[in-house]
Amino acid sequence: SSTVAVRAEGVGINPNVRKNEEKVVDSVVVSELSKPLTAYCRCWRSGTFPLCDGSHVKHNKATGDNVGPLLLKK
Ligand code: FES
Repeated sequence: SSTVAVRAEGVGINPNVRKNEEKVVDSVVVSELSKPLTAYCRCWRSGTFPLCDGSHVKHNKATGDNVGPLLLKK
């Protein structure tokens, strides 16, 4: 399948997050957010995925990309 081809060639957007899973899906019950503001990673480089750990800054500097987190506000 094309999914297998993408994985084999390493051209997907996810470099190393939970690669053992068929599809990485996370859900959040918004009413149960613990903090007023929570940042969720959209760059797939976070060491605390699905939460943002600031790794997008390094990625953006290295590649010229402009990715950043999704902010959920309580
Ligand atoms: Fe991925 Fe911040 S670490 S968006």
